[in-house]
Amino acid sequence: MQSFNWGIIGPGNIANTFAKAIASSKKGKILAVASRSKERATQFANTYHIEKIYSDYEQMLTDPDIDIIYIATPHNFHYQQAKLCLEAGKHVLVEKPCTVNAEQMKKLVAIAQRYNLLLQEALWSRFMPCLSQLRQLLKEGIIGDIQYIQSDIGFAFQNKEKSRLLKAELAGGSLLDLGIYSITVSQFFLQEHPDKILAMGQLTDQNVDSHVLANMQYPSGRYAQFTCSMFSQTSNTMKIVGTQGYVNLAACFWNTDTADIYCDDKLIKRLDIPHPVNGFEYQIEESMQCIEKNMQCSDVMSHSDTIGVLDVMDNIREQIGVRFPNSIEAS
Ligand SMILES: NC(=O)c1ccc[n+]([C@@H]2O[C@H](COP(=O)([O-])OP(=O)(O)OC[C@H]3O[C@@H](n4cnc5c(N)ncnc54)[C@H](OP(=O)(O)O)[C@@H]3O)[C@@H](O)[C@H]2O)c1
Repeated sequence: MQSFNWGIIGPGNIANTFAKAIASSKKGKILAVASRSKERATQFANTYHIEKIYSDYEQMLTDPDIDIIYIATPHNFHYQQAKLCLEAGKHVLVEKPCTVNAEQMKKLVAIAQRYNLLLQEALWSRFMPCLSQLRQLLKEGIIGDIQYIQSDIGFAFQNKEKSRLLKAELAGGSLLDLGIYSITVSQFFLQEHPDKILAMGQLTDQNVDSHVLANMQYPSGRYAQFTCSMFSQTSNTMKIVGTQGYVNLAACFWNTDTADIYCDDKLIKRLDIPHPVNGFEYQIEESMQCIEKNMQCSDVMSHSDTIGVLDVMDNIREQIGVRFPNSIEAS
């Protein structure tokens, strides 16, 4: 069995979830962690028994023992950091959104193809067996033909002054952080990208979106509708509605291990597939399997799907008037 040494860039909030998940892996381990702060890197390394620490990201990329990098910094850094990793010959798993806009992702894909390296968006929901099995059941018509999908995602960040979501210079806002789940999970079930989008949004004085409400129509005639908010505690649920029934994905729908399937208003099936750790393990294992198979991304979260979802978010941002500083949007 091939084994993989991982390096982490940005040992903040989500990097802890990653570190807990990879601890159960048989073929992957974290060999190194890089932080701008030596103290933060040391603390993280001590917590997760990591051998090497770097206080410079680029220095870690010269380490020949590292195979793959997990980028866990705020959105605005992903493009440049992923580019550096690929150019250093490292495979890369990049937190969502993989880049701030579709143009940047297209550039990264070209680089990954040139060097034949993995470039994977860490959209963890798409790798979860509960959602994959549900997608298969939906395809087989368990609720008839899907008509529309509704979802709601939001948390109250307004009093968390230090939150990166509030900051334009960190590509903040509710859409790229939260709404992305509604768009990508809907696309996962419908297997198409919307060709008509109507969006409304409320912006903060930093010109990032506090709420977004969007209606999306797909080429097949089906719809998805979502609200996302960084100033409200919402239900965080998704409902998939078909001609003969519906599916409820309880909170938090993007990290669900259960799905309740109803026909004629009666519960006919419950999927219940508990995560072995915290839900991050699936995307970690899939990334390593893709490298073994010489694939540049997984079929369940392909480059074209990442670009398609970014296209939707670019469109919504244009409709509601959110544009980040040029230095962040540049590719
Ligand atoms: N999949 C999920 O469920 C999930 C959940 C949360 C977040 N995320 C994604 O993960 C990414 C990171 O989110 P997070 O909440 O973990 O971020 P965070 O804790 O705020 O920051 C993570 C790291 O990024 C670097 N960083 C933070 N602010 C910075 C700044 N102003 N300038 C330069 N570097 C900065 C720091 O690295 P150093 O230690 O090197 O300074 C920090 O340790 C985001 O893209 C987000 O969408 C995913």
